[in-house]
Amino acid sequence: MISSVIEERKVLRDKSVLLGVTGGVAAYKAVDLIRRLRDEGTSVIVIMTEAAKKFITPLSLEIASQNRVYSDLFSDPMAHITLSANADIMVVAPATANTIGKFARGIADNLLTTCLLSFIGKVVIAPSMNWRMYENPVFQENLKYLLSRGVIQVGPEKGGLACGEEGMGRMSDISEIIETIRSALSQKDLAKEKILVTAGPTREYLDPIRFISNRSSGRMGYAIARAALRRGAEVILISGPSVLSQPKGIKFVLVDTTVDMLNAVNRELPSSTVLIMSAAVSDFVPAEKAEEKIEKSEELLLGLHRTPDIISEIGKRINRPFIIGFAAETGRKIERARRKLKEKDMDMIIFNDITETGSGFDVDTNSVVIIDRKKEIRLPLMSKDSVADAILDRLVELRAK
Ligand code: C5P
Repeated sequence: MISSVIEERKVLRDKSVLLGVTGGVAAYKAVDLIRRLRDEGTSVIVIMTEAAKKFITPLSLEIASQNRVYSDLFSDPMAHITLSANADIMVVAPATANTIGKFARGIADNLLTTCLLSFIGKVVIAPSMNWRMYENPVFQENLKYLLSRGVIQVGPEKGGLACGEEGMGRMSDISEIIETIRSALSQKDLAKEKILVTAGPTREYLDPIRFISNRSSGRMGYAIARAALRRGAEVILISGPSVLSQPKGIKFVLVDTTVDMLNAVNRELPSSTVLIMSAAVSDFVPAEKAEEKIEKSEELLLGLHRTPDIISEIGKRINRPFIIGFAAETGRKIERARRKLKEKDMDMIIFNDITETGSGFDVDTNSVVIIDRKKEIRLPLMSKDSVADAILDRLVELRAK
């Protein structure tokens, strides 16, 4: 058995973003976007339009980006070429109807629109405007044209607008914009896969109100689903109850009990090529479920039965997908994970000691060992997003063989 340790890999690390900020009320949100990108190890250079300067000062964006902010087309005669030549991606957030319209029609009358024309990489736009402007057929025509040329749109969202009206036009959340940039810069190495991911806890009811469950938040499974989508896979996420928001672009199925989860997996499985069972499925179900709320008493003895083991059931099938399971253990019981890999007929198992600091339930980080039939890869403590990518990297390697 080969054993190796790998370093954390982040899609946005060492990348350079050329960020266009245009004149919408959401311009102040650029500060947060820049900070969050820099936290990922990305360098950001900002170009502001004249209108953007009415909403936020260049100094704020200079401080946030720790870089000079550009605006004037003529003060630096070659900036419109050098800035775009040195960027990995261009992002316009917020993107006004005016800048989107100019971009669609090839107008280059300021530094930003000139860079948009001279840039040959991917461009992400985050529209932000009043709903009437957004729905205007002229604007929609411009947007449609840009999308047909490969420009990537994120948002807008429906909601309360700065003008006091309600409608489509709010700039997307910063997390959504960052996820779109990540996706645009990701290799589509899972484009041929249809991946079924389970996540979160299940609930097993004693009566209509009370249930047995566990501390799983769903974070690991949701991170895997997002990473697989970013890497080009078709993704179905079957989730037990979780407070996390549904990832966009994914078929989402909400379930409650283990039997619900089993049924949903069976329904969605036939065309899937990979099953990733990161759900913390309950192992026990109360022997009986009372029709009505159980009355209070001095003592209540619970009888429990085993739930169906989803992964083992799928593992036994002839036409089965590539199966990845999880083994969350209290303590260094890696031997138990190795045994489960064989007993449950999985192709890969992710061992996770949930008692380690920063690892396991309800935190954004995890420390795991990826175990398959040929190799064990120990990952240091890292974000669940990076753990997800490391699992998928190994999946890609094994599927290529
Ligand atoms: O044996 P253990 O429950 O620890 O195995 C964990 C793996 O099996 C996880 O991937 C989990 O999602 C899956 N599992 C399952 N059905 C169950 C219990 C766990 O598929 N009833």
